[in-house]
Amino acid sequence: MPIVRLLREASLPGATVFQANPLRAVNLEGHIPQDKIEEIQRRADIVELVSEYVTLKKAGKDFWGLCPFHKEKTPSFKVSRDKQMYYCFGCAEGGHVFTFLMKVSNMTFPEAARHLARKTGIVIPERAMSDQERRQYGLREQIYRANEAATVFFTGSLFSAAGLEAREYLKKRGIREDVVREFRLGYADRGGRTLKGFFEKKSVPLEVACQAGLLVAKTEENGENRRDVYDRFRGRLIFPIEDAGGRVMAFGGRVIGQGEPKYLNSPETPVFSKGRNLYGLNRTKEGIRKSGYAILVEGYFDLISLWNAGLTNVLASLGTALTAEQVELMRRYTEQVAILFDGDEAGKKALKRSLPLFLAAGLQARAVVLPEKNDPDDYVRRYGKESLEELIAGAPTLVDYYIDDIMGDQGTLEGKQNAVKEALLFLSTLDDAIVRNLFLKRIADKTGIDQELLKKEMSRPRKTSAGPGPQRNTGESTLRALDKVEFSLILFLLQHPESIAKVGETGVLDYFTDNELRDLAQTIIAKGLVEGVADPGASFYLDCLDDGPLKGLIVKSLLEGWTDDERVCERYFTDMVKQIKRKCLKRRSKALTIELGKAQEKGDSEWQNRLSLEKTKLVEEEKLL
Ligand code: CTP
Ligand code: MN
Repeated sequence: MPIVRLLREASLPGATVFQANPLRAVNLEGHIPQDKIEEIQRRADIVELVSEYVTLKKAGKDFWGLCPFHKEKTPSFKVSRDKQMYYCFGCAEGGHVFTFLMKVSNMTFPEAARHLARKTGIVIPERAMSDQERRQYGLREQIYRANEAATVFFTGSLFSAAGLEAREYLKKRGIREDVVREFRLGYADRGGRTLKGFFEKKSVPLEVACQAGLLVAKTEENGENRRDVYDRFRGRLIFPIEDAGGRVMAFGGRVIGQGEPKYLNSPETPVFSKGRNLYGLNRTKEGIRKSGYAILVEGYFDLISLWNAGLTNVLASLGTALTAEQVELMRRYTEQVAILFDGDEAGKKALKRSLPLFLAAGLQARAVVLPEKNDPDDYVRRYGKESLEELIAGAPTLVDYYIDDIMGDQGTLEGKQNAVKEALLFLSTLDDAIVRNLFLKRIADKTGIDQELLKKEMSRPRKTSAGPGPQRNTGESTLRALDKVEFSLILFLLQHPESIAKVGETGVLDYFTDNELRDLAQTIIAKGLVEGVADPGASFYLDCLDDGPLKGLIVKSLLEGWTDDERVCERYFTDMVKQIKRKCLKRRSKALTIELGKAQEKGDSEWQNRLSLEKTKLVEEEKLL
């Protein structure tokens, strides 16, 4: 509990300054334009934000939870989505998204604003630049110019004699010339020095062109260490990758016909990051707005081909696994996305992987699974635009797809149990409490299992006759061998938060041999002490754990059963603490013995004495256990 109070006091001076008129104060300190502040405020959602820190329950139009700013056992912290405000009836703290972040994370107003801007995908123009930033800015500008020049050059090549082969290839794939021109497709010839020559003629610094990823510099080692510079793209059809404002950030290049690699892309550059952009956006954002949804595909060609068929509301993920940033980017243009991935296993996997991203962003997504071996390009060419649109209209939501997929095999009771377990496991990895609840409801609907029961299952393990501890070694392949007792103690804490205070007294954390587990225990203890909630259920603590195999293993172990017998627990707890300490002391003792040997060898008596003294202490401590 002191931590929160400290944070609060620390942020007070700043907070009072801003309280008079927080929105104006920002302009002075952080140079964030007023319209941006207002846009952030419009875009951010107080319920979503608070849910990251407080478990909220909906009651009528409002949400209630335990106040993060003072210690309490019954919720008096109210959040209103309509008003975009929060207020605590216990301690009279209240405000909006900015003040909440400032207080809960001890941020200044500009920091909070920038944080929310990132979350909501709003770009805040640079404030007054440092020299370093100015240089960087200059380079970025120059790269954009080089990219633009290259785009013009590549399109010129495509329609020149050298581009005949590429034009033939496009024709073979059925792409019309107006589409080629719309997307500014181009051709990089096989010469290897053509673009370089063009840049030299146009006085574009080759250094800039290298930084843009258009030219590649190789240092020749034989002889005089000469730097050789040549074109990155050779003999390829070129797809300029534009940002939403139409500036060319990077390029994709496809071999004409067969060859490896099929696609060669620009590297990451000061103006381009693959995971943060979507191909086609600048051309298709209008179509997306008009149709009210976006079709998401994986490939450049898929997008071009769909446009060619008359579908202008398409985005392409640039062939990487979809990222949260890409989903956020989409959200700026639409709330509805039809995901159109290949019908193969990889495509299905990518679909499932994208679910948490869409859920977290609050986007409605549909999963369009194409009949086998078809990619969107194949499909639309074979069956036409109408057929594809029908497929999209009839596609299940991504959540349904996911649930159907894992709930597929539940003819037997056991099948059902396993499916529920997997779903709950997935559920526990979702950050957003509201989304979690929605998802839970869907599982309840699907399985006919009562929602409250599922919730309990999620946060509390079933009683079983088996003894305490993880029931079997659930060594996930991605997880290294864990110290069993340390891990069990963590499970115990999650099950018995009332013992969190006791752990502190034992000082057992200092004896943990596994750093990750120690950090984990520390996080749980901190959360337990700060929030001071009496038995809020394990899911409450799971919120603060990073996603990953460890969290998965914890959830799994929690679901697999535990005893709730008080006496057994008490004994078990003391036992674990002892075991952890003993093991650690043994380890140290061993290390000391080795060191003692070294000290003796060297004849360093001072060192020897010090070590012997330490060893005596260890032995005494061990006796006390
Ligand atoms: N990709 C890539 N590098 C590769 C292969 C693929 O960057 N070596 C990316 C490209 O963005 C490509 C997307 O992944 O558009 C999808 O790849 P794939 O399905 O193999 O290509 P298609 O779009 O089907 O290309 P095509 O129809 O031209 O064969
Ligand atoms: Mn294809």
